[in-house]
Amino acid sequence: MGAGNAGTADWYRNFGTFDAPASSPCYAEWSLGIAGDAELISRIEQWPHNKRQPLLILAAARFLGAGITPYREFREFLLARWDEVSRVVLSRATQTNEAGRCTTLLPSLAAIAGSTGRPLALIEVGASAGLALFPDKYAYEYDDGGSVTRLVPQPDGARPAAEEAPVLRCAVQGAVPLPAELPKVVWRAGIDLNPLDINNPDDVAWLEALIWPEQDFRRDRLRRAIAIAQQDPPLLVAGDLNEQLVSLADQAPPDATLVVFHSAVMAYLNASQREAFRATIGTLAAERGCHWLSNEGHTVLAQADGSVVVPEMDDSRLRGRFLLLQDGVPVAIAGPHGQTLEWL
Ligand SMILES: C[S@@+](CC[C@H](N)C(=O)[O-])C[C@H]1O[C@@H](n2cnc3c(N)ncnc32)[C@H](O)[C@@H]1O
Repeated sequence: MGAGNAGTADWYRNFGTFDAPASSPCYAEWSLGIAGDAELISRIEQWPHNKRQPLLILAAARFLGAGITPYREFREFLLARWDEVSRVVLSRATQTNEAGRCTTLLPSLAAIAGSTGRPLALIEVGASAGLALFPDKYAYEYDDGGSVTRLVPQPDGARPAAEEAPVLRCAVQGAVPLPAELPKVVWRAGIDLNPLDINNPDDVAWLEALIWPEQDFRRDRLRRAIAIAQQDPPLLVAGDLNEQLVSLADQAPPDATLVVFHSAVMAYLNASQREAFRATIGTLAAERGCHWLSNEGHTVLAQADGSVVVPEMDDSRLRGRFLLLQDGVPVAIAGPHGQTLEWL
């Protein structure tokens, strides 16, 4: 392997060493295999830089049917199907849609609905397929180590019975303000550069491929969330969140409390785009009484001048977890898939 491709190989080696092992021994082995494979690294380096990330090629291979196999067989699969792998990598992006993140959002959504006494209108920016727009349709189990608080959706005509809803499980710490019931949502909409369509089998297969091979529970959760969203698909607008937010907010019913939220999206924006977004949120709050929930990793905290939005919240405190801000105030630290919630 020449010095020229050390960057890409390091990316795969880091992914295989630090990111993958706890969740996917298979991805760890494949990623380390690619890191030491000069032929594959040089093929990957023919793609644009933003297409070289490990998760994209691994998901593309899974999308095309790669099973959980030792690296040697995986390599044969990649080389035999390289044209198709390239086509998928170049036409798709990592748009994992994790309904589990609703466990993080739910206490704040319920508190906002309770404080305004009105039902909610939701806008998710960077919504992918919009599965986080159904927090009122999922079942929840919050476990504080001693007892479990269960919340189930209200029966709703022709919708799937409550027992078919995904059960979103979350280990809680601190005084999480768990609601007695799920908040009422009367309108839901999302914005995404490339909305995925839960009624398009190719998009659904891509969402499944983005889940790591051994994580069957997440695939089951995804399928159940998709079945719920398919009953009443959310309005999803294609475009940049900074360009679409104000006009979409204008469509929300005026008698509902508007909440704009996002999870795992701000890392895709540069600091000035994030600043523009915060300015729009400020305007919507002043003119429309809009509330704002931000559920993001540490990158969201960086501003254009290098300072951070929440100075006390450094990387070591977050350690790969997300920070939940409610109307700009840090309220909780959450597992990236909603598996834990520590109230501050
Ligand atoms: C990692 S996914 C997260 C999806 C969803 N929020 C969730 O938590 O499951 C990030 C999404 O943000 C979208 N995105 C990135 N930049 C965007 C922008 N400037 N405007 C709109 N959507 C954007 C991507 O297309 C992708 O679907």
